[in-house]
Amino acid sequence: MMASPPTPCAARASLLCLHLAVAMLAMLSPPAAAQGEQETCRAAAAPPRRGAWMSVASFGGAGDGRTLNTAAFARAVARIERRAARGGALLYVPPGVWLTGPFNLTSHMTLFLARGAVIRATQDTSSWPLVDPLPSYGRGRELPGGRYMSLIHGDGLQDVFITGENGTIDGQGSVWWDMWKKRTLPFTRPHLLELISSTDVIISNVVFQDSPFWNIHPVYCSNVVITNVTILAPHDSPNTDGIDPDSSSNVCIEDSYISTGDDLISIKSGWDEYGIAFGRPSSGITVRRITGSGPFAGFAVGSETSGGVENVHVEHLNFFSMGVGIHIKTNSGRGGFIRNITVSDVTLNGARYGLRIAGDVGGHPDASYNPSMLPVVDGVTIKNVWGQDIRQAGLIRGIRSSVFSRICLSNVKLYGSASVGPWKCRDTSGGALDVQPLPCQELTASTSGTSFCTN
Ligand SMILES: *[C@@H]1O[C@H](CO)[C@@H](O)[C@H](O)[C@H]1NC(C)=O
Ligand SMILES: *[C@@H]1O[C@H](CO)[C@@H](O)[C@H](O)[C@H]1NC(C)=O
Ligand SMILES: *[C@@H]1O[C@H](CO)[C@@H](O)[C@H](O)[C@H]1NC(C)=O
Ligand SMILES: *[C@@H]1O[C@H](CO)[C@@H](O)[C@H](O)[C@H]1NC(C)=O
Repeated sequence: MMASPPTPCAARASLLCLHLAVAMLAMLSPPAAAQGEQETCRAAAAPPRRGAWMSVASFGGAGDGRTLNTAAFARAVARIERRAARGGALLYVPPGVWLTGPFNLTSHMTLFLARGAVIRATQDTSSWPLVDPLPSYGRGRELPGGRYMSLIHGDGLQDVFITGENGTIDGQGSVWWDMWKKRTLPFTRPHLLELISSTDVIISNVVFQDSPFWNIHPVYCSNVVITNVTILAPHDSPNTDGIDPDSSSNVCIEDSYISTGDDLISIKSGWDEYGIAFGRPSSGITVRRITGSGPFAGFAVGSETSGGVENVHVEHLNFFSMGVGIHIKTNSGRGGFIRNITVSDVTLNGARYGLRIAGDVGGHPDASYNPSMLPVVDGVTIKNVWGQDIRQAGLIRGIRSSVFSRICLSNVKLYGSASVGPWKCRDTSGGALDVQPLPCQELTASTSGTSFCTN
């Protein structure tokens, strides 16, 4: 399916229209790459219709910022669950502040936040239920054992739509961040939204704010569209990743603004021996038109990639005040693979590092990981990157007995106020075309040919 670009100038031939047309042509990828791509995630263009509409207010809830609405949400979801055979329902959250503990979603459900609606997490952390560790992690990401359930949670669902008129899902994470800093947490912090083993999910037109931990975590999911969302958390909030697709396939993330305290988007697939045994990759991921800022990476893969990450297409990123523009990270003991990753058309305005691809990042779940399980990193193309106010160009650091291969930098221009720190590379092979500052010799002295690295 190839969507044609919008043609606002179809019947007119003014100079402005000519400029628009030329600009639009310039934005299109080369024909080969454009094959099979769409201007927008397809599912978002046809969101599901529901047979019924109900308001959380009619389940005993109150949007006064004080009443706890956990039971009201649970009752509403139970009602929708009973309507599954009749197409489910839309749950309307009216303007107001709807304080709640964690609740489950159900299949064939639309959660609709009106303009001015806030679903706000209670800060009474003692009332948060625990859920099992994910099999691909073997334990909580931060601490052994179970994990706090995400504020909004789904497991084994189909056809879920979270949308509205820019309403807010507010995690009130500061209480969790403080406990994490003081090391008083018994279990791994909750995500704001976690969907496990679910298919046909759309998340759009919603603000996610102050998550206790990662914001949006689709894990073992397929057919996920995340579009037109805003994700906000302070830059000093710990581990507030924006969106982390994890062992998930056919995921599209687009047209969103993300500013948080950790990676803005990071693709994962499980942790060391647990992720290797579970063996579920992340694949078929599209990310485009993302703007944002944060102290870690703008776009990342890893570091938990033990099930493998492949077939990832990322374009039109616009990051400012970043730690690292693009960060691909794995480690010995991870196993898995990172292959066929393309990132193009990136502007970076202020970053400590433009790019890092490194094989020595991230800890291990326990002492039972096998250090000889080495990841394979092959076929990573980074092209059309323009940065200013960059301190270090970056590094590409492979693993001695698992050299990173076919790493291609093409038309990558990084500038700084002073001279930009040089590329540092080792245990890497690949190609480089039009790279500023001058690329490392590992990428210019390829003996294996550079036909894979063009623009
Ligand atoms: C959420 O659903 C799971 C089943 O998937 C159930 O075990 C759990 O008790 C539910 N939690 C809440 C808070 O409703
Ligand atoms: C994006 O979200 C805003 C706020 O909810 C809405 O006004 C706008 O129409 C949305 N855009 C698209 C393309 O859905
Ligand atoms: C949605 O809300 C966010 C956060 O308040 C705001 O930055 C953004 O501009 C809003 N979007 C629209 C379309 O109103
Ligand atoms: C590489 O990934 C793209 C999606 O980003 C996919 O269309 C293409 O088929 C993949 N190539 C191979 C050789 O698998």
